[in-house]
Amino acid sequence: MAKITEIDDLKRIYKRRTPKMFYDYCESGSWTEQTFRENSSDFDLIKLRQRVAVDMTGRSTASKMIGQDVAMPVALAPVGSTGMQHADGEILAAKAAEKFGVPFTLSTMSVCSLEDVAENTSKPFWFQLYVMRDREFTKRAIQRAKDAGCSALVLTLDLQILGQRHKDIKNGLTVPIKLSPYTLLDLATKWRWGMQMMQTKRRSFGNIIGHIDGVSDMSSLSVWAAESFDPQLDWDYVKEIKDLWGGPLILKGILDADDAKMALNVGADAIVVSNHGGRQLDGAMSSIKALPSIMDAVGDKIEVHLDSGIRSGQDVLKALAMGATGTYIGRAFVYGLGAMGQHGVEEALRVIHKELDVTMALCGEKNVQDLGKHNLLVPRDFYGDWA
Ligand SMILES: Cc1cc2nc3c(=O)[nH]c(=O)nc-3n(C[C@H](O)[C@H](O)[C@H](O)COP(=O)(O)O)c2cc1C
Repeated sequence: MAKITEIDDLKRIYKRRTPKMFYDYCESGSWTEQTFRENSSDFDLIKLRQRVAVDMTGRSTASKMIGQDVAMPVALAPVGSTGMQHADGEILAAKAAEKFGVPFTLSTMSVCSLEDVAENTSKPFWFQLYVMRDREFTKRAIQRAKDAGCSALVLTLDLQILGQRHKDIKNGLTVPIKLSPYTLLDLATKWRWGMQMMQTKRRSFGNIIGHIDGVSDMSSLSVWAAESFDPQLDWDYVKEIKDLWGGPLILKGILDADDAKMALNVGADAIVVSNHGGRQLDGAMSSIKALPSIMDAVGDKIEVHLDSGIRSGQDVLKALAMGATGTYIGRAFVYGLGAMGQHGVEEALRVIHKELDVTMALCGEKNVQDLGKHNLLVPRDFYGDWA
């Protein structure tokens, strides 16, 4: 078996084993993909301060996210259709996260349902909510998340309308897959994926089918999905959802200091500085560049998390040292999942953990919670002088 030493190793295997339309669905940003690219390349602009002659024994990456213990402050981000990247993908990823001691976030648009993931895991996971026009569906989803024992609600705010990803249109992406001569040809070389898919019954959107009136099959679901995200979602409705849920609330998709202040005002427990991995507003700032202004605005009043562009433990360290208290990986765990199922997600977490731990040591730190700006060299013009 190939030796996995970095996240890119998993990505290469993932690409070989997964149908092109699902690989493309994951590995793309909206329009020109500028924000998608800069999410990662902006991490490279920040340098680490090497320190020496510091006792490095007894290191710890353990921390807390929204008051919950984590083996390292790296959660699995909500990723729609994960169950199409690998059969039973959400359950496998949740199991890997549970084993590693980090949070797993289940997307509204998952293949395995809330109930299914709860039945197949033993620790509470987080549920990510997309607000739908059908407010009864939203209410029921919140109740189902409570019944499934979810320990946080992650409300995504940056996808009321879909950013265009050219490849999905060109590939004719559907869940489940629709067979055309082109997809048949592609599938012929992805036999492992196909065999595993044939052995599972989970092949459509498990949180939606059967939970919304008039949607019992995929043809009506595709019509529903295209029109279903609620463009009227505003801060009043966010407040309503917070009250309805009544538990820890994380607001995801904050990229602007003014929005961070609004999130604070509605009483969220944490925010995720995120541009949806560059899949929504192309031309928006990378998350790591947006972080300093958000830290200045609310950093001492609310927990600030970050995602988008993280591909290594060094990236995690940079985000934490810039002030975030938690991070999420999206694509980095999907690469692992598509490459090797649950084991691949565990490998992705192992790689990131090792990089974080060793890098922390080489920066002269023993505890992840002590990381700070003193560990970094940040260009004076990093944030930029914007009019
Ligand atoms: C294939 C894919 C599907 C995604 N689906 C969702 C989703 O259903 N809900 C959500 O809030 N975010 C979704 N996201 C965004 C992720 O939660 C996260 O913000 C993003 O992946 C972080 O960037 P990274 O992939 O560079 O780590 C998705 C991202 C990807 C790559």
